[in-house]
Amino acid sequence: MKIYKNHIAAKIAGIIGDDKDRIKSLLEFPPSEAMGDLAFPCFTLSKGMRKSPNIIAGELKDKIEKDDMIERTEAAGPYVNFFVNKRHLISTVIDQISDEGYDYGKSDEGSGKTVIIEYSSPNIAKPFGIGHLRSTVIGASLKNIYEHLGYNVVSINHLGDWGTQFGKLIYAYKTWGDETKLNDDPIKHLYELYVQIHQEEEKDKELVELTRREFKKLEEGNFENIELWRKFSDLSRKEFQKIYEMLGVDFDSDTGESFYIDKIAGIERNLKERNLLKESRDATIIDLEKYELPSILIRKSDDTSLYATRDLAAAVYRKKEYNFDKMVYVVGVAQSLYFRQLFKALKLMGNVWADDCYHVSFGWVKLGEEMMSTRRGNIVFLEDVLTRTIEKARKIVEDNSPDLPDPDSVANAVGIGAVIFADLSCRRDTDIAFDWERMLDFRGNSGPYIQYSHARLCSVIRKYGKELKKEYNTDLLLLPEEYSLAKMLSLYPDVIKKAAEEFDSFYISNFLLEICGIFNTYYQKYRSSDDRILSSNNDLADSRLALANCTRIILHSGLKLLGISAPEMM
Ligand code: ARG
Repeated sequence: MKIYKNHIAAKIAGIIGDDKDRIKSLLEFPPSEAMGDLAFPCFTLSKGMRKSPNIIAGELKDKIEKDDMIERTEAAGPYVNFFVNKRHLISTVIDQISDEGYDYGKSDEGSGKTVIIEYSSPNIAKPFGIGHLRSTVIGASLKNIYEHLGYNVVSINHLGDWGTQFGKLIYAYKTWGDETKLNDDPIKHLYELYVQIHQEEEKDKELVELTRREFKKLEEGNFENIELWRKFSDLSRKEFQKIYEMLGVDFDSDTGESFYIDKIAGIERNLKERNLLKESRDATIIDLEKYELPSILIRKSDDTSLYATRDLAAAVYRKKEYNFDKMVYVVGVAQSLYFRQLFKALKLMGNVWADDCYHVSFGWVKLGEEMMSTRRGNIVFLEDVLTRTIEKARKIVEDNSPDLPDPDSVANAVGIGAVIFADLSCRRDTDIAFDWERMLDFRGNSGPYIQYSHARLCSVIRKYGKELKKEYNTDLLLLPEEYSLAKMLSLYPDVIKKAAEEFDSFYISNFLLEICGIFNTYYQKYRSSDDRILSSNNDLADSRLALANCTRIILHSGLKLLGISAPEMM
């Protein structure tokens, strides 16, 4: 739609003598096709022109001349609605997508700009939670989206590898630990120790002091404790890596919280100089009462550091290291208040760039009953959930198409695709329920449904059996579904931009579902008629194939932005 936006904005700007870019930013997509393809709201002109927006819309409509791009205009209340020339649109879109391929929708809006996206960030020695999965999937997708728009993206896994819990773990390991168990199933053993020490601490308050001392020793660099911590950390990282490999996710940096302990002194100095620190019941805090926020605990009475202090140090370090234009934290909604406190503190420390920091929060994920049955001990391991999803996908894929050359890789793509799509198919701030039946439903709003539509397109192209034509006549594409499809494809670049602006891949997943909806109706409706895609009329078949190929390109590209692979056969 971009070329039409530019064209219409230039026309309006010429008529009313205004800035083209300003007009362009006002153009909207009407809610239904009956209201045209683009709409210009006249409200903002009302004051300067001293007329009602409805009158302005009427007058403006009369002054706009039709041309080969604009077929019709209409004044509807305070809006001027534009109907673009259908022939022009179909031909432009198909030419452009055929020409640009997977680069369609790329832009240079991000050129020269750096965005940090922090995601995943699970905690060492604890199971990789389902919430961390959602963070991982959302963050990885945002990374793809921002890269598509030309940004330099730095992805960071802020591992939870420091904190008082390590004092507890070290104490528990020294007391009840078992090296064989640790090496066999590290997360399970560490988690058991973690649960045990919590229970014991409840019974015996003296233990709290003992575990605290172990953490203090760790912060002071005690050799034995550092060695244990390193071992826990290495084993956990290896376990997490398995999950990242299954998901096809990686990071530019995985410096966890521990990386910032030697940078905390500088932060505290700054806070002190600015008079931001306050002593309160033996602890040091930043008082944020003035801003109607709870205070931030910076240092505890025993002199050990805290999560927030390490986050302040991390933000300052990242600004210095990467000079980001934006920094995004993909973390669950439970930490919303925390991030407001954090950004406020950064601002008070004199960092104007605190305004460029965003908490991209997301809702809770509930595991379906059947998934809960993958428990080991009493914890659900994400790796088990993923493995079982792939097994289930394999069964479905084999039932559907017994002759696939490489069922393993298809099952993998479908299983993982199903999980990723389930995480991205609703607005990120909504809670979601994960269950196998729904996420693997080939006919439902699922990842496999989109992958299947993509594979169907690949199969149509294979059946065509020739090289796609460079010359085709789009004037032959007269079915209403063909226009709807082309028009939808033309919106892809706008959808990517919207997803980036709102940090929400949902716009893309939803868009892909719409494309599949239109395409599958089109395919089913005409499949046994003369109007089928592979028409017996060669010219028609060439043109329809061009459109089919563009649809394939967009599905493939969109899935990739979500982090999902697109098998050609399934
Ligand atoms: N490890 C934390 C948790 O599991 C999430 C870290 C979020 N990022 C941050 N910079 N605080 O709750």
